[in-house]
Amino acid sequence: MAIILGLESSCDDSAAALVTSDRRILAQAVVGQNEAHRPFGGVVPEIAARAHVDILPGLIRAVLEEAGLGIADVDAVAATAGPGLIGGVMVALLAGKGIALAAGKPLVAVNHLEGHALSPRLVDPALSFPYLLLLVSGGHCQLLDVRGVGDYLRLATTIDDAAGEAFDKAAKILGLGYPGGPAIEALAQGGDPAAVPLPRPLVGSGEPHFSFAGLKSAVLRARDSGLYSAEDIAASFQQAVIDCLIDRTKRAIAKAQGVNALVVAGGVAANQAIRGALQGLAAQHDLRFVAPPLWLCTDNAAMIAWAGAERYAAGLTDPLDVPARARWPLDPSAEKARGAGVKA
Ligand code: KG4
Ligand code: ZN
Repeated sequence: MAIILGLESSCDDSAAALVTSDRRILAQAVVGQNEAHRPFGGVVPEIAARAHVDILPGLIRAVLEEAGLGIADVDAVAATAGPGLIGGVMVALLAGKGIALAAGKPLVAVNHLEGHALSPRLVDPALSFPYLLLLVSGGHCQLLDVRGVGDYLRLATTIDDAAGEAFDKAAKILGLGYPGGPAIEALAQGGDPAAVPLPRPLVGSGEPHFSFAGLKSAVLRARDSGLYSAEDIAASFQQAVIDCLIDRTKRAIAKAQGVNALVVAGGVAANQAIRGALQGLAAQHDLRFVAPPLWLCTDNAAMIAWAGAERYAAGLTDPLDVPARARWPLDPSAEKARGAGVKA
């Protein structure tokens, strides 16, 4: 049994956690920065990086104290090394390097996306490879055939905005707070999902990818028309996103070889309507459906510690000069998707 310290600071959440290789979460702490970024309707990289420097050391001390452990009891230090806002990524990675060097522990440089991708296995020991993963977060929208630790086949990505980014932009248009996902979901409860005619970009298309930029523009036009309530726009927007996600995932199920489960991860996976629709799709295809608990969907360090535990068990540790990376695709062999705003 190994104990892994996980560190995360790639976006706007600072987090530390202690997780064991036999799936026990000994302690974890997450401090979000929503208040700091709210006036801007999105994450401001410089504000985020400075906040991580302030917050992260205290979280590391707090989780060790809560678990009643010293750094000598830890077997490896896992830190997110990308992709993300580079100033933020460097904070956890440098902290991890410092601790690894000072305490003589191995370092595991974790791809944040692999953290999301493997997180369902932390809470579901029965989830085995390969599985089809819909990874939907603020920065990413991908369908991945998860073959094993470090072994990913990217089946689709977004050619413009990520799903969470679309929620955040639609929320901003509707004058809601940041982050937009939970705000839209709450507002949508009182609205009619069929009230506003909105496009479903790329639905039915021969290409595998996602696109949400046109949907965002349509939300702007719907608001400016003055014809619809904010509740109806929110509900119709959420339904359009669901229709896009389901259509693209259905296509990927037909392409993926031998997967035994449909798994959703990333912050947008916290959305109950999206979870419900995906569950229905999985049932139609006789696939198990696995969605991590909400706290594990949004950014946290337990998923980084767990990915670290899986990599450590596979002998995958990293040298202390491993770089922080703003971009870091999980499947380096995947073809670049067309489109200007492609993230990975
Ligand atoms: O995975 P995450 O915490 O951070 C990234 O790695 O991006 O995802 C954050 C994203 C934000 O865009 C947020 O609006 C979205 O997840 N999100 C949601 C919900 N909760 C968070 N989107 C839709 N419905 C939700 N309930
Ligand atoms: Zn994330």
